[in-house]
Amino acid sequence: MEDYEKMGAFYLGRAFDQKKKKLGESLVLYDSKDLVTHAVCVGMTGSGKTGLCIGLLEEAAIDGVPSIIIDPKGDLANLLLTFPQLRGEDFEPWINEDDARKKNLSNADYAGQQAEFWKKGLSDWGQSGDRIQRLRDAADFAIYTPGSNAGIPVSILKSFAAPDQAVLDDAELLRDRINTTTTSLLGLLGIQADPIQSREHILISSVLNSAWTHGQDLDLATLIQQIQNPPMTKIGVLDLESFYPSKDRFGLVMALNNLIASPGFGAWMEGEALDIGQMLHGATGKPRVSIFSIAHLGDAERMFFVSLLLNQVLGWMRTQSGTTSLRAILYMDEIFGYFPPVANPPSKLPLLTLLKQARAFGLGVVLATQNPVDLDYKGLANTGTWFIGRLQTERDKQRVIEGLEGAAATQGAGFDKEAMERTLAGLGSRVFLMNNTHEDAPEVFQTRWTLSYLRGPLTRNQIKVLMQATKAAPPAQAAAARAAASAAPATKAAASPPTASREETSSPASVRPAIAPDVQQFFIPTRGSAPGETALLYRPMVLGAGRVNFVDTKLGVDQSVEVCCLTPITDEAVPVSWENSQEAGIAVSDLEKDAAGDAQYHEAPAVAGKAKSYQGWTKDFVAFLYGTQKLELLKSSSTREYSKPGESERDFRVRLQQSVRESRDAQIEQLRQKYAPRMAGLQERIRRAQQAVERESAQANQAKLQTAISFGTTLLGAFLGRKAVSVSTLGRATTAVRGVGRSMKEQQDIGRAAESVEALQAQLAELEAELQAEAQALEAKTDAQSEPLETISIKPKKTNISVQLVALAWTPFWLDESGDKTAAWE
Ligand SMILES: Nc1ncnc2c1ncn2[C@@H]1O[C@H](COP(=O)(O)OP(=O)(O)OP(=O)(O)O)[C@@H](O)[C@H]1O
Ligand SMILES: [Mg+2]
Repeated sequence: MEDYEKMGAFYLGRAFDQKKKKLGESLVLYDSKDLVTHAVCVGMTGSGKTGLCIGLLEEAAIDGVPSIIIDPKGDLANLLLTFPQLRGEDFEPWINEDDARKKNLSNADYAGQQAEFWKKGLSDWGQSGDRIQRLRDAADFAIYTPGSNAGIPVSILKSFAAPDQAVLDDAELLRDRINTTTTSLLGLLGIQADPIQSREHILISSVLNSAWTHGQDLDLATLIQQIQNPPMTKIGVLDLESFYPSKDRFGLVMALNNLIASPGFGAWMEGEALDIGQMLHGATGKPRVSIFSIAHLGDAERMFFVSLLLNQVLGWMRTQSGTTSLRAILYMDEIFGYFPPVANPPSKLPLLTLLKQARAFGLGVVLATQNPVDLDYKGLANTGTWFIGRLQTERDKQRVIEGLEGAAATQGAGFDKEAMERTLAGLGSRVFLMNNTHEDAPEVFQTRWTLSYLRGPLTRNQIKVLMQATKAAPPAQAAAARAAASAAPATKAAASPPTASREETSSPASVRPAIAPDVQQFFIPTRGSAPGETALLYRPMVLGAGRVNFVDTKLGVDQSVEVCCLTPITDEAVPVSWENSQEAGIAVSDLEKDAAGDAQYHEAPAVAGKAKSYQGWTKDFVAFLYGTQKLELLKSSSTREYSKPGESERDFRVRLQQSVRESRDAQIEQLRQKYAPRMAGLQERIRRAQQAVERESAQANQAKLQTAISFGTTLLGAFLGRKAVSVSTLGRATTAVRGVGRSMKEQQDIGRAAESVEALQAQLAELEAELQAEAQALEAKTDAQSEPLETISIKPKKTNISVQLVALAWTPFWLDESGDKTAAWE
């Protein structure tokens, strides 16, 4: 395994020498955390954009960074075509059969050739089947097909549910969300609505706004109902009926209804919900690469889906903590039409917001397009990395140059327009100019061979075959059983409510039993309506409500848990025992003073009528809480981090992965700080030594100084990259020195200067070895996905238990004709 794999560096390719039209030796590594300022990839058709971005997504996956991919053309599904053994039979089901025919080869023979071709391509780029295996092991790959069952279908039902609190709390974000949802929905109906002018738009957004701000979820059916009968009587200052009369609203309702009723629309309703957290990490916290293939959809449907998806990503993003490391990638393979400079399709607003805000949350947005005019200019100003491939027209080149010039100006960097024009004119297939604002200078490179077999767009059938195995397994959500719930339940969750033995013998009366006034008594409210022909029956029970505070200053835990239990009153020697209690599932504030209506009552046992009994039961309740309550947390011994109360093991592992990544990135930064000055110092000394050699040796001619550069291939060179020292200069210097050194050795004419060059080279080798060793140490860090976690149990102190209430509680049941009772409050 190459050392860069441990260092959050994405291997994108190797430097390309434009003058010699030759591939260089130095690796082009991209710092994963640079991607948080997003990237744009432009280049004409066939220039290798998708290949470059697939390579980047592969690197991210190997580094444990998950991604969400929007795939309008179908090329990205190729990420699932990974064959570590690189055998012909692995390739055979996926080859382009027309190509085989054209070459007069059987499928098997052509597949064999393709396998060899891929193997060779990979090996030219220092890769092998092992790395393919590494990619496969690092993440789970899935193809989603909204509106179709070929891949995993996606349900949009939940997409009209009220957004997370984080979104509701942000007025601007909420407005954008309402706006985008409305525009994309109307788009699906073929209505190009202006948010300010169109009454359809205004009405639907008002309905969404009203529901969401009240925390109410909508689905398409309720949305339709509410359009016909909106929850408001006025829109702005106008009366609803004059603004949009009921009979006109009916037209809109019918259009929506027809859409839902249309054959094929059902596919939009089944499948996994668009839950971004689940799309990014599986049930155990393993990273996922979720590809949304939309090639099969019509334009309006695509726009509708992409807008919904982007909205969900925005909502998810807001619930994440801040980070400086890359957490996830959102990639869109062909941005044409979704992010135009002038028009305002529903996808544009969320994309702009993402480009502006996603950085703080570690979400890197990567957009690819053939044509630079497809991209909104404002959005581009927020893009840190540009990958520019061969461009078709002069106009495209000029536009890119303007963009780069603008970016350079905002950073106060110089810009050589003519040199840039020359560079862009000389770009070939798979050769890109990388302009990364985090680096000192742009770099021309050729993309590395992809681990995935790039066979081009997959057919629906092929997607079906690819996803069949996955679909047979339970979907991510179902499997994401929130393992290891952290707060242990206080009481046994009894399957049926505990019954008091004496009740079975006494018959209920229709008058509420009289209880001494100094005994506190309450009614538990009924939930839902009475099922069929049933009567309401109240049984006396004891309710205990308390708060337990778990404090552990060392672990930074300060968490309180509310407990509310119900326990029966029996005829036994100990009539009330909290051991028999069940969780009541209600809050003290919900208790009522009166019955829910006419009811029958079981008699309260004598003990329940004495205030003194409750004092004893209160003490017992405290002892019970003390004995049963505990807060369980998970501990990662490698990072010394603890799960938070209520955080599942999966969520904890997802969080750990990010924090491991953050600390690794910080360590890498330290390594850079440490090595860069030493490297620069050596560079300077080598330069001087080289000059001395030149002075002393008349034979040292320029031709010898042009020996191939090899230094950049070392880890040190690639790692320090273009950030701290200019490797190209350094590379040239050292190679030159080596060349000269060798030739002079042959001539037995080595001066002292050359000796010192050798010595300096040895020092460089040492520095290199030192860095290797430190990189090795980074790798030794535990894997947050599989590391065994310890369970830590925190017990409350007696002083941290407070009892709010222990009182007589009239508990409702539904009593049917045959005498069966069902709890009426659960
Ligand atoms: N990194 C790579 N490794 C191996 N083959 C590649 C790589 N990049 C590109 N190719 C080959 O070149 C072809 C064209 O490249 P690619 O699909 O990436 O172009 P593109 O710029 O995305 O074009 P379009 O705009 O039409 O989508 C691919 O189908 C593949 O055969
Ligand atoms: Mg492409």
